[in-house]
Amino acid sequence: MKTLAGQGSNSRSLSLKTKILVTLIVIIIVSAWTLLSNIDVMDFDVNFENTNSFINGQNDTAPSVDLGPLEPAVSLLDRDTKYLTFLPFAGFTNQFISIEPAALIAKKLNRTLILPPIMSSYHDHDNTHQRWASLFNIPRFTHLTGIPVLAWDQVRPLTPAQRKVGRDQAVYGTYLDLSIQTEEWARVAENLTCEIIVNYGTPGNPINHSGMNFLWHFLFRPIPKQPPMKNEGENGLYVLDDIVTAYADNQDQLLVLSNAYKVRDDAHGSRLWDEIGSNLHFVPELMEYATLRVNEESRGDWGIEALVDDDPEEKPRSPEDEDIEPIIPPNMNPNATESGVTLDLSLSNMTAPLTRTPYIAIHLRRGDIWEKCKGKDMTRCLIPFDTYVDAVARARTNAAARGLHSRLPVIVTTDTTSEDDLRTIEQLGWHRMDHAKYGTAKLWGPFGEAMVDAAVLAHADEFVGSPMSTMTRIAARRQKSWYNRGMIYPGAPKKKGMRKRYLVSSESEWEANADAVSIVY
Ligand SMILES: *[C@@H]1O[C@H](CO)[C@@H](O)[C@H](O)[C@H]1NC(C)=O
Ligand SMILES: *[C@@H]1O[C@H](CO)[C@@H](O)[C@H](O)[C@H]1NC(C)=O
Ligand SMILES: *[C@@H]1O[C@H](CO)[C@@H](O)[C@H](O)[C@H]1NC(C)=O
Ligand SMILES: *[C@@H]1O[C@H](CO)[C@@H](O)[C@H](O)[C@H]1NC(C)=O
Ligand SMILES: *[C@@H]1O[C@H](CO)[C@@H](O)[C@H](O)[C@H]1NC(C)=O
Ligand SMILES: *[C@@H]1O[C@H](CO)[C@@H](O)[C@H](O)[C@H]1NC(C)=O
Repeated sequence: MKTLAGQGSNSRSLSLKTKILVTLIVIIIVSAWTLLSNIDVMDFDVNFENTNSFINGQNDTAPSVDLGPLEPAVSLLDRDTKYLTFLPFAGFTNQFISIEPAALIAKKLNRTLILPPIMSSYHDHDNTHQRWASLFNIPRFTHLTGIPVLAWDQVRPLTPAQRKVGRDQAVYGTYLDLSIQTEEWARVAENLTCEIIVNYGTPGNPINHSGMNFLWHFLFRPIPKQPPMKNEGENGLYVLDDIVTAYADNQDQLLVLSNAYKVRDDAHGSRLWDEIGSNLHFVPELMEYATLRVNEESRGDWGIEALVDDDPEEKPRSPEDEDIEPIIPPNMNPNATESGVTLDLSLSNMTAPLTRTPYIAIHLRRGDIWEKCKGKDMTRCLIPFDTYVDAVARARTNAAARGLHSRLPVIVTTDTTSEDDLRTIEQLGWHRMDHAKYGTAKLWGPFGEAMVDAAVLAHADEFVGSPMSTMTRIAARRQKSWYNRGMIYPGAPKKKGMRKRYLVSSESEWEANADAVSIVY
């Protein structure tokens, strides 16, 4: 039996209740797994991947496969270049938002940005990650912003043995105790100095689960460092300009921010979106894939109309992207490959559909949103179905006024698992994006479903969102930046003359509409 080397100094902030819950979960998992296999429960060296509940994508850690020797990983940094990176925070939309301040700081400090991959969080309960560049057009981003971008799984390619140790460590850390380190992980982990912008190791303020997952997967042991900034802003959060000033003369080759999501930039309006977020376009194939699925779903609808598909976001490649050579560091370890997912090769054969069906998209956020509503007006959080029906009616009126068909098909992206919700969607004649049916995750990787949904929302002809959802908020911004369209806000007051308030046509209007609820997720 392998022993687990505890590292007492790390944070132990789980409450007793949580610990009991976690212990129960471990017991359940272990019992289920004992039933399903003949593996000795006490042998912690077995593969969690066998259960397939933790791991998506790779199979290089199957027990019969020789994983090769376990050596420490190597970061392939160029001596003459300075880099900046950050730890992921919370779910994938917040991880997207985190890129904005980090990229702007990197630009102002003339540093190359190393993107951590999209990491599993408490939301998806997986133990996996995926490279942003498999879903977003990073060369185009570099062309538009001038910011050189690398990915950690290029910079620090991992061998199968290293990947297994990292992912096993994430399982122990998640389900047993943050402070536990497996012997193997502790042996190969490398110290990584983190500038504590926010979220480090104090009780009640641990590194976020997504951040820990990144560190575990990439065999990094975080070493906290007090940042040089003089003043914390409101709520103890640092301001972007102060961070830039504080690190202007910093000579460290790699600057690691413990958090980027919570960096404040209030004084500059929407510059983070304008300069960074709006320039992160999806790869055109993802937009094409979304259009194909929408066309397919709405095919049987009454009075369907097909328009010429001239979506600029589906243009196979803009000529200016051709100039950008992606920066790829040399792979000095012949056994190491890129981690993340290998996408289905047939995707590269995909071509944009010639026609597209205009549609209304609804982002129906259900799932765990009620948790974010504590102490707030529930009807503004968990919006009743009738309110969406009402919003769709307004969307149809808008569409007709713009010369589109008066009964556009309705496409719903949702995290709901409620039978009632699904039945209602069907009865209304709406179409739910059904990724299990399309096999989206297999084609686009573990985060592909969410990103295809995001693409569907972004290029809908009319868009009905959910308040309290950052996914809606980002979709509304994409709508505005890429297509110059507003969004329909369900549940806005139905007074005469208030119609304009339903249509968000600018950032500030969105904020004004959303101010009744603070958008957390
Ligand atoms: C994973 O590897 C195991 C053992 O080599 C093999 O039996 C199994 O078929 C593989 N699964 C997939 C999905 O390739
Ligand atoms: C690569 O893997 C092979 C076979 O597992 C092993 O013999 C070799 O030492 C490894 N090379 C390095 C550089 O780790
Ligand atoms: C920015 O960094 C690059 C490479 O790291 C260097 O060649 C260049 O001189 C720097 N520019 C400024 C303005 O510091
Ligand atoms: C890594 O950090 C730990 C804890 O701070 C320290 O004990 C150890 O000496 C460090 N290792 C190296 C190689 O710097
Ligand atoms: C990570 O951040 C999210 C959002 O604030 C929070 O819900 C979650 O509990 C955090 N997890 C940890 C381990 O800090
Ligand atoms: C891509 O298309 C070509 C030409 O039609 C075909 O030969 C090839 O097999 C396709 N590749 C994949 C991976 O589907």
